[in-house]
Amino acid sequence: MVVSNRLPVDRVTAHDGTPSWKPSPGGLVTALEPVMRRNHGAWIGWTGVADDPIEPFESDGLRLFPLTLSEQEVEQYYEGFSNDTLWPLYHDVIAQPKYAREWWEAYSRVNERFADRAAEVAEQDGTVWVQDYQLQLVPRLLRERRPDLTIGFFNHIPFPAYGLYSQLPWRQQIVEGLLGADLIGFQRRADAGNFLRAVRRLFHMPTTHNRVELLPAGAGRWPNSGSEKPRSVVARHFPISIDTKAYVDLASSEAVRRRAEEIRHDLGDPSTIMLGVDRLDYTKGIGHRFTAYAELLAEGKLDVNDTVLMQVASPSRERVESYKALRDEIELTVGRVNGDYGTIRHSAISYLHHGYPREEMVAMFLAADIMLVTALRDGMNLVAKEYVASRVDDDGVLVLSEFAGAADELKQALLVNPHDIEGVKRAILHAVHMPRSERRQRMRALRARVVEHDVARWSQDFLDALAVIRPSASTRELAETD
Ligand code: F6P
Repeated sequence: MVVSNRLPVDRVTAHDGTPSWKPSPGGLVTALEPVMRRNHGAWIGWTGVADDPIEPFESDGLRLFPLTLSEQEVEQYYEGFSNDTLWPLYHDVIAQPKYAREWWEAYSRVNERFADRAAEVAEQDGTVWVQDYQLQLVPRLLRERRPDLTIGFFNHIPFPAYGLYSQLPWRQQIVEGLLGADLIGFQRRADAGNFLRAVRRLFHMPTTHNRVELLPAGAGRWPNSGSEKPRSVVARHFPISIDTKAYVDLASSEAVRRRAEEIRHDLGDPSTIMLGVDRLDYTKGIGHRFTAYAELLAEGKLDVNDTVLMQVASPSRERVESYKALRDEIELTVGRVNGDYGTIRHSAISYLHHGYPREEMVAMFLAADIMLVTALRDGMNLVAKEYVASRVDDDGVLVLSEFAGAADELKQALLVNPHDIEGVKRAILHAVHMPRSERRQRMRALRARVVEHDVARWSQDFLDALAVIRPSASTRELAETD
């Protein structure tokens, strides 16, 4: 069973009032959905709409258990504590986190509700996999309610260095919450290291390699959690991936290939199409990318008559102040760059503030000579992997930020520090002028990685590790009677 903030589908209402469902945004759902469908899994999550009670239902082999959030909970737990406190804090304070006590209280209450629902729905001795920073208190709350369960947790975003994490007024409660799990997964080795350091600093608990031996209840700074038996918790990295085959299949289809040609044609058949695809989020470094590109145009190193930057910025968290400000800033920049460098025939930036179906995204990937991923901090960045998976022609160049988790694996990309604008400009020019043989060599190596390490392997690795740490109920019973 999966417990995540959102269900894999969001509730939408058409202008005429007809309700329907559309896929939820973000990498978490993209990654987990195929795994869950294959296993006829149960999924607890929010529908994306406030005050919208919906009965459990089945969708394409998934059993969905919607959890209702009130308008106030959406404001305080989701927009507030999750996305205006934890999100900026965990992304290296790129924006200033807000520490509001009423948001923390709402976060705790909503985490309790998720834990209550999971405790009701999970089968005896089942396995529950809790997802992401919105639900960090759930592992402990669930263990208190259902000690029979095996509990995994996966953090899709970075876990910050202790120097930053220690700002959080509720730093102790969050770590305690996570330690309710048997296995805690992170994207990068460094994230797991940061978490283990927080455990040592906050609780003086011994950690060996990637394992925490929990002190007996009430010992040291560890809270008295009743009758819980001594146990250990493993924290290590499991880099998430994508359903690679689904991208390969789409990219190999005639219809998608034709659509890619159409996109190139509609953009004026330029020699170079660069592409950015992001949720409109300040962690993604969209502005840094625009600055580098605009400077190259200004210096005459790129020419708007034969180059275009297509930027898909899908709407995200639109009621949170920092996101509103970012949208204004990005759209002002697009206007300026197009005003300064565009011609009647050619825009410098083709800016699209929409989400697109996967077929269209793959057509864009195939049409793009260069993919720009310039995140300032990113747990993984699945778009980088989606681009690589879609390049069945072994062509295209990936420019990738070293601050995205994907950089640990996709080493044949052109790795950049997005704060170093000169470095980004050099990487763009390298990509524009890269000979076909070098493009092929790099792309083949990148593809080999993404083909071998797909999302099925990610989830299998995590669940296998979980089964080793906490053997199944029947094995446990045998051990106990021995
Ligand atoms: O991976 C990070 C994440 O916050 C996921 O938890 C979430 O599904 C996705 O990004 C999209 O964000 P949101 O649910 O806030 O739209």
